[in-house]
Amino acid sequence: MLTGGGDAPGLNAAIRAVGRRALAHGDTVIGVNYGWAGLVGDGDYRELDRHFFSGILQIGGTVLGSSRTNPMKREGGREEVLANLHRARLDALVAIGGDDTLSVAAWLAEHGGPVVGVPKTMDNDLSVTDYCIGFDTAVSRVAEALDRLHTTAAAHRRVMVVEVMGRDTGWVALMGGIAGGADVILIPEIKVTLDEVLERLQGRFQSGSDFGIIVVAEGVEMEGVTDKESTGGKLDAFGHAQLSKRGVADTLAELIEEKLGHETRTTVLGHTQRGGTPSAYDRIWATRVGSAAYDLALAGRWGWMPVVRCGAVDTAPIADVVREQRKVPPELYELAKVFS
Ligand code: F6P
Repeated sequence: MLTGGGDAPGLNAAIRAVGRRALAHGDTVIGVNYGWAGLVGDGDYRELDRHFFSGILQIGGTVLGSSRTNPMKREGGREEVLANLHRARLDALVAIGGDDTLSVAAWLAEHGGPVVGVPKTMDNDLSVTDYCIGFDTAVSRVAEALDRLHTTAAAHRRVMVVEVMGRDTGWVALMGGIAGGADVILIPEIKVTLDEVLERLQGRFQSGSDFGIIVVAEGVEMEGVTDKESTGGKLDAFGHAQLSKRGVADTLAELIEEKLGHETRTTVLGHTQRGGTPSAYDRIWATRVGSAAYDLALAGRWGWMPVVRCGAVDTAPIADVVREQRKVPPELYELAKVFS
């Protein structure tokens, strides 16, 4: 098995589920280190015994390590992955990851690779599945941060602008913002102008409140505030722009202060959202989808993965899950606006 993409709380619960099911069945378990990076070149993998899976359920990150290595972008990378699968004598590969990791898994399955997937991304934006490992913990982190920031906002009559992760979708911003009582939530799916943000804040001040909390997803585009290209040219290993370098919250906070004369402060939650101890919910669902992935591998259902639908574990082709991102529906965003 391997874990790829950004680390997320609950990954170790999934690793433990796959590993323990496999060992109980009498299989040999191989851990691939650092995602797809462990299956290119000479390969980087090792056999895991039962002790490896002890005491990891409650730990954040991934004990296998992760990377954003994309073998499809590397000259000869695809062939190297197939060669390593053969060399390591893997009968099955469980790829645990988000759309980047799983799109490589989908390609591999298409080319005869014995691979199944597991849905992981704190962004919760994979299609077909209602849940991805890491999302619940991330939302709780945002809500907790907003609780803390409310006290300073109220005490100093400030507008606090809180930047959260979310490249293309605003699930974490919206759910964290609803749970933490944000006054304005800005997400990539819904275009909002700077003037609208200022109007909403002014409306709030006129109705007697003297502070405000804004949650903004790092991938938001807003005329006069952001420019998608302005990331300092920094790309991650998979080829995505590093959106945190754009400083959307900082620019927005400066403009609010300049235009409304209200004191502002910025908090960028960054990797605190996906670091540390996973919630019980993440541990439980990671255990369920991890175990279901093992069942798929046992049944030789290559190219398939467990998904969560209507509160139960279901299965779907990996290719369907990565075909497009699951966006926040406008009606959910409207609901959040009612309480702002
Ligand atoms: O892919 C998940 C994610 O959390 C995105 O929301 C965010 O843009 C990205 O990871 C940041 O990743 P990195 O740790 O590579 O900076």
